[in-house]
Amino acid sequence: MSPLLASWDEAGYGVPPAEGSMLEDVLAGLSASPRRLPTKYLYDARGSALFESITRQPEYYLTRTELALLDAHLPAIADAVGPDVHVVEYGSGSGRKTERLLAALHAPLAYTPVEISQAALDACVARLRPRFPRLAMLPLRADFSRPLQLPRPPRPPARTLVFFPGSTLGNFTDDDAVALLAAMAATIGDHGCALVGIDLVKDAAVIEAAYNDAAGVTAAFTLNLLARLNRELGADFDLSGFAHRARYVAARERVETSLVSLREQRVHLAGQVFGFARDEAIHVEYSHKYRDERFAALARRAGLEVVDGWGGHAEGFGLRLLRRSAR
Ligand code: AVI
Repeated sequence: MSPLLASWDEAGYGVPPAEGSMLEDVLAGLSASPRRLPTKYLYDARGSALFESITRQPEYYLTRTELALLDAHLPAIADAVGPDVHVVEYGSGSGRKTERLLAALHAPLAYTPVEISQAALDACVARLRPRFPRLAMLPLRADFSRPLQLPRPPRPPARTLVFFPGSTLGNFTDDDAVALLAAMAATIGDHGCALVGIDLVKDAAVIEAAYNDAAGVTAAFTLNLLARLNRELGADFDLSGFAHRARYVAARERVETSLVSLREQRVHLAGQVFGFARDEAIHVEYSHKYRDERFAALARRAGLEVVDGWGGHAEGFGLRLLRRSAR
């Protein structure tokens, strides 16, 4: 389901959030200068459905390019990974990528989707179990940006493979991406590996179009964050008073997405009043685009090295296989 640590509160199963509550996070972000809202709150049930729709928009090249790379290279990936693996997926995916990977690997032993949302985990297992009846399904409700205590497969796996597709890594700042990759290194251990999808630096117009689709689905996805704050926290954002803005900042090699106030206005939340100037922006998301050297440098800081890869400049997207660096 949601690519970014979904909505723990949507599922409501009592697992505490990784950092403060949603209200605390939102009050802190709206009080900061410049203003910001945590990216993970984009993914309530409606946000997750809108994201799924984004992945099918003609301008959003990321998903179809990654699917094509998987279709073209899964036999080679399966050979590189080897048999008897425990596949651990960060997020539970829409199923399209997971099914291809599990079908191509040589006799995988177990599959562990890692999600905060129990509802997303249940849906994932219900979808995959009939398709892979001999695979042990061991879902884990956890925050994948921290080291994980993995469930044990029925017999010891040859290795753990972490699957982190979609360039979701790009939604993290460099420091947070390194922390996530370091947690990944701990999860895979000395013999494991990780298959990570990364969107690559390319023509700015192509990138910007992907985050400003003509049908307005990405705009609806971003604005849904304010609708969620109204619904769940009792805020009074006037949705017609804010607009989605996504710009590719070439110097930082990332898309910066904000909600921009279209006029001077006030918003009420939890007894506090937030005044917005016209054109004032609330930052909501980064989508980093990588060059191989920069990605390898981030991996190195996390104790990982890139040992293989499929897709490059020509395709505009890459799958990279990582292992722990020799110590
Ligand atoms: C999940 N993530 C990789 C998407 C991206 O491309 O940054 C989220 C997204 N935001 C707007 N469109 C897609």
